Amino acid sequence: MQIKITKTTTPKDKPMGNLGFGRNFTDHMFIMDYTDGVGWYDARIVPYGNLEFSPACMVLHYGQETFEGMKAYADADGNHYLFRPEMNARRSNMSNARTCIPEFPEEDFVTAIKTLVKLDADWIPEGKDSSLYIRPFFIATDPFVGVAISKTYKFIVIMAPAGAYYGDLKPVAIRVEDEYVRAVKGGTGRAKTGGNYAASMAALSRAQAEGCAQAMWLDGIERKYIEEVGTMNIFFKIGEKVITPALNESILPGITRDSIITLCKDFDLTVEERPIAIDELLAAADSGHLVEAFGTGTAVVISPVNKLRYKGRDIVIGNGEAGELSKKLYDTLTAIQRGGAPDKFCWRHKI
Ligand code: COI
Repeated sequence: MQIKITKTTTPKDKPMGNLGFGRNFTDHMFIMDYTDGVGWYDARIVPYGNLEFSPACMVLHYGQETFEGMKAYADADGNHYLFRPEMNARRSNMSNARTCIPEFPEEDFVTAIKTLVKLDADWIPEGKDSSLYIRPFFIATDPFVGVAISKTYKFIVIMAPAGAYYGDLKPVAIRVEDEYVRAVKGGTGRAKTGGNYAASMAALSRAQAEGCAQAMWLDGIERKYIEEVGTMNIFFKIGEKVITPALNESILPGITRDSIITLCKDFDLTVEERPIAIDELLAAADSGHLVEAFGTGTAVVISPVNKLRYKGRDIVIGNGEAGELSKKLYDTLTAIQRGGAPDKFCWRHKI
């Protein structure tokens, strides 16, 4: 893939201090177009800026889109890394297949990201909790308000320097949603597509109204089994075991989730991927066996959970602080990601 690069003539000031998440973008973005019968073409990097679309553009009406979340990291010696980018490329095509967006060559996906990160490498913040958040996304662009599969698309990558999503390992409270559901068997829950997040807003709003950071989803049939949390997969330490819901058609296959399972096994912990009923969790909490809970995701990395709110009842987990396992996993994973620990599983890509 040839990428035409047009550099900005007006580089922006980089944000200082607390970087927050997802509001300041780097100087450049990657764009590529697709037309039925032609395929993907015109790979280019251009100055970051607004895009112009017809108001009839299909993604605006029917949400035919997918996205990914990834990060680039810097170490103290000025080396830059990506973390398992081939997994994002693969998952992206899985999401695209579910939403009838054309397949994108996985090697080109990684090349596009590496090239963009190299160009804007001086935007990668240093520091243990900082990184460059990368947001690749695919959108349907036909100007048509009939419901159809678009014949044209864009693949775009934008990037934003980011600090910790919730603050350094700051534990959060989660509200268990027992009315709305996120996804059902046969739906799009496994795909990373905007509609899943649009469907989550009402539950998020309720969670926030009750002082919680995110909503935890139960299964769409019985409202009995735990699925995932707003922007993350969820793990529980019950007794000596680490338990996380088994992947199914309605759970996002998180790359951080997969990495955390690998690390837990490497720590010689027993990991169970299986259905977990909310009642099992309540019973474990009542008997004192629910030791820890934490969410995982690219944006949050590890987010310790210190309270679950279910049907008006508060289930307090641990002593309100981040648990030992959450801390150990966070330190180990972030060290691997930014070159500070041996890359035993070959996850790191030096750029
Ligand atoms: C990520 O962790 O990268 C996500 O996609 C969550 C995002 C919706 C903030």
